[in-house]
Amino acid sequence: MNSAPWWKEATIYQIYPRSFFDSNGDGEGDLTGITANLDYVKKLGVDAIWLSPFYTSPNKDGGYDVANPRDVDPRFGNLADAKKLIDRAHELGLRVLADIVPNHFSDQHEWFQAALNSPAGSIERSRFHFYDARPDGTPPNNWISLFGGPSWTQVDDGQYYLHLFDSSQPDLNWDNPEVHADFEKTLRFWIELGVDGFRIDVAHGLVKEDVLANHPDPQGLSNALRLDVAMDTEKRNALLLTVPYFDRQGVHEIYRKWRKIFDSYEDREIMAVAEAWVHPPVNATRYVRADELHQVFNFDLLTAEFKADVLFDVIERSIALNATVNALPTWALSNHDSPRVASRIGSEQARALALFVFALPGSTYVFAGQELGLPDGELEDSDRADPTFFRTNGEIKGRDGARVPLPWKGDSTPFGFSTGKPWLPISQDWKPLTVESQELDPKSSLHLYRNALELRTKHLTGKGGITWLESAHHGEKSENLLSYSRGEVTVVLNLADSAAECEISGRALIVSGCVIDSHDGKKVIPARSCAWFVA
Ligand code: GLC
Ligand code: CA
Repeated sequence: MNSAPWWKEATIYQIYPRSFFDSNGDGEGDLTGITANLDYVKKLGVDAIWLSPFYTSPNKDGGYDVANPRDVDPRFGNLADAKKLIDRAHELGLRVLADIVPNHFSDQHEWFQAALNSPAGSIERSRFHFYDARPDGTPPNNWISLFGGPSWTQVDDGQYYLHLFDSSQPDLNWDNPEVHADFEKTLRFWIELGVDGFRIDVAHGLVKEDVLANHPDPQGLSNALRLDVAMDTEKRNALLLTVPYFDRQGVHEIYRKWRKIFDSYEDREIMAVAEAWVHPPVNATRYVRADELHQVFNFDLLTAEFKADVLFDVIERSIALNATVNALPTWALSNHDSPRVASRIGSEQARALALFVFALPGSTYVFAGQELGLPDGELEDSDRADPTFFRTNGEIKGRDGARVPLPWKGDSTPFGFSTGKPWLPISQDWKPLTVESQELDPKSSLHLYRNALELRTKHLTGKGGITWLESAHHGEKSENLLSYSRGEVTVVLNLADSAAECEISGRALIVSGCVIDSHDGKKVIPARSCAWFVA
C-alpha cells in the first residue's frame, strides 16, 4: 500500500514548555515534565507534538530569543532530557517537531557578543545588520519593531543594529554564508538527536532588501501587522502589500536548500511547517511548492469571526490555494501568540469550531490547553512577561494570557502544575477545567477532543476533499448553517443562538453541544454547535 506521509493529515499538539508541567517545583514547566505527561498527549489521539523553543535563552521573548540553538536552557533541563523526551514520544508513536528560530538570535548569543566587541565593518558585525547612524545621529531607517518602538538599537560606537522584534533579538544577515552554514548545522543536530521536523519561526522574514529605505507609513504598517490592532480591512491589506522586510523572494532559496537536507535523511520523513504571515494569501503557497517546505500555517482561523460567510471564505480559500501547489491546508484555532479561541469566540463556539475543523482535509494544530477549553488567563500587569507589553509601555497587553500554565488536578491552584509558585498565576476558577475534573465528565471538552480525534482517524483521514452542501451556505435561510460532506461523513455547523432543523440522513457520530434530536425525520442541531453524521 502506498501510504501518505505521516504529516499529510496529522494532528499536531503544540506544547509551550514553560507552561505544560513543572517537574522540579521551580514554577516553570520543563522537558522532564513533558516526558512524564506524554501518555496524556498520546491518549488525546494526536500524531505529533511541536515544542516551542527550549534552547539556551535569556527568555526575554519566551525562548524565541535563542542564545545557543544547539543546547537546552537549564530552566528546561539538558540535552539528555531532550533525548529522553524524544525517545519516549517515539515509543508512544508520537512524532516530535522542534521550533527553529532563524530570523534572529538573542543578544546573548556568542556571535552577537563578539559583534559588540568588534569594530564597524568587521566579520563579526557582518552576521547581523549593523549600519552607521544617519548624519543627524538617528537610526538608518524609520522601521518600527513588531513589538513596538524603533527597530534599531544603537551600540557604544554609534552604529545601529536591526531588530524586527525586541532589542534583545538582533536580526541575522542571511546574505552571510556563515549564517546559512550555522543553521544547517542546527537542523542536522536536532534531526540526529531524533526530531521528525521543524516549525520555522518567522519563516518569511529572513531575507531583507533595501535595509536603508524608509517606509512611507511605518506606524500604520506596524499596526497593520498586529492582529490586536483594529483596522479597516482594505487599509490593512493595502499596507500589508508594502512590508519591506517580509516575504522576499530570497527566502525560498533557503527553503530549497533546507528541503534537500530534510530529504537526505531518506528513511526519516522529516517535515517542516512555515510560520509565514504573508499577503496576499496566495503568496503562502510558494512556501509549500514541491521542492520547499511541507506545510505553511494558515492563521485566518485565529482571527475569523464566528460567522458562516467568514468561515466559508477562509476554509474554501485555503483549500483552493493549497491545491494549486498540490498541498493540503493547515488549521489552527489558537497558539501561543494569539488569544485563546474559547475567550475570543466563546466556549461553546470554540468546541463547535474545533469539530468543524477536525473533519477538514489537511493537518490540524491544537495548542496545549485548547482541548480543555481554557480561556485566556486574567493577569495583573505586574504578572506580565511579554516584551510587547513593555515596548508599548503597557498599551498592548501582550500574549501572556494564552500562556498561563495548564491545570492538571486537585482543588486549588496551581492545580498540580507545580509544587511551587507558577510563573504566571492560574485562576482558582479553573478548577472545573482541570484534566482531572474533565476526565470525570463525559461531556467535557477533553472528552470531545478525544472522541473527535479518534473518529477523525477512523472516518476522515485520507478521505480526500470536501463538498460544500449547497443549501448550507447560500441564501438567507441558511446564513447560520454551514455544512460539507467528506467521504461518508456529513458535517453541520449551526452558528445560530437557536437550534436548527436539517434534512440529513444517517446517524450522529459526535456533537459538540447537547444530544441531537430527530423531528419529523429531520435532525435538530443545537445552538452554537457542530455535529458529524455518518451515512
Ligand atoms: C514568532 C513566535 C513569537 C515570537 C516571534 C519572534 O512569531 O511565534 O512567539 O515572539 O516569532 O521570535
Ligand atoms: Ca521546572
